[in-house]
Formats: sequence, structure tokens, C-alpha cells
Amino acid sequence: MDIFEAIKKRYSCRAYQDKPVEEEKLNAILNAARLAPSARNFQDWRFVVVTDANTRKSLVPACNNQAFIGQAPIVLACCSTTQYLMRCSQPAGPIDVAIAMEHIALAATSLGLATCWVGSFYPDQIRNILQIPTHIGVIELMTLGCPADQPNEPKRLALDQIVCRERWTF
Ligand SMILES: Cc1cc2nc3c(=O)[nH]c(=O)nc-3n(C[C@H](O)[C@H](O)[C@H](O)COP(=O)(O)O)c2cc1C
Repeated sequence: MDIFEAIKKRYSCRAYQDKPVEEEKLNAILNAARLAPSARNFQDWRFVVVTDANTRKSLVPACNNQAFIGQAPIVLACCSTTQYLMRCSQPAGPIDVAIAMEHIALAATSLGLATCWVGSFYPDQIRNILQIPTHIGVIELMTLGCPADQPNEPKRLALDQIVCRERWTF
């Protein structure tokens, strides 16, 4: 699948088949994250791969009771280890993690799997369940598995609503 096809096919999957993800596919997906760009090549991303059914269930209340988090065969807790601010005053860690996560989402799509970003969670509860130390930022979670639902037509702003040329004209 080429990159544009993967971008078009990716969607937020909120229903998963009760079927594990092959280890080979999981490794290929995690390797796609490893190859992402990062500020100063710090690679400030760390991933906790959660497959244990009981642990996944315990994540549901920590994720605002989003039931699909317990249903997905894999939940990734995507973390950063620093509070490093770039010269532009933006934090590098969450940006690095987000880029790597989208590599994961697109790689998963190209392998026939599906994902959903999860930002609605209580970081302290996630830390507690997964024994993540307090100095580590839990940036986002992501579910991963074989889809059991269908994508909706994506609703997006038109290009001319988000792009201007040469100067700010919005
Ligand atoms: C940073 C971020 C956090 C998100 N958090 C959640 C979430 O907690 N629960 C959820 O169901 N979807 C979540 N989403 C998915 C968005 O709702 C979804 O990407 C958006 O509605 C566009 O739909 P699509 O991904 O199917 O194209 C999140 C997406 C992003 C990028």
C-alpha cells in the first residue's frame, strides 16, 4: 500500500475483532515508530505495549470509560522522558511521540490493522496501572488491532481554509 492510500484508509477504529495481532506485524509497526524523525534525534519516545486482558480492562475507567480500550488486543502507552523545550518554545517530547504514533497508525493501516488515538485519559491512573514513574510524561495512548467496524467519511476543512500563501491571510 502506498503512503497516500494508507493516509486515506486510516481512521479511528473503535471496535476490534477478538484476535491477537501477529508478533511480526507488531514488530514492523513498532519499527516504523523507531524510524520517525525527532528533535535533535533525541528519540524521546517510549512505548509500553499492553496485551494482557486484565490490564487492558483496568485501563477502561482510566480512559474515561471508553470501552473499546478494553476490547482492542493491544493498547500502547506512548510516553516521553524529558521536558526539553526547543528554541521555538515548543516541547519536543510530545511532538516526537506524536510523529512516531502517526507512523504507527499508518504502518498499521498498511498492514490491514487499525488504530485509534486516545487522549481522553487520566495520566496518574495510567501511571499507576502500568507502573510508569511520575517524571515520565504519558503523552497519548493508542489502540491497535484488527478492525471490526467501518470508517466514516472523513470530515475535514477544505484546503483553502487551512492553507494560505506567502503571508497570513486567514
Ligand atoms: C490527539 C488525539 C486524541 C484523541 N483522543 C481520542 C479519544 O480519547 N477517544 C476517541 O475515541 N478518539 C480520539 N481521537 C480520535 C479523533 O476523534 C479522530 O481522529 C477525529 O475525530 C477524526 O476522525 P478519524 O481519525 O476517523 O479520521 C483522538 C485523536 C487525536 C489526534
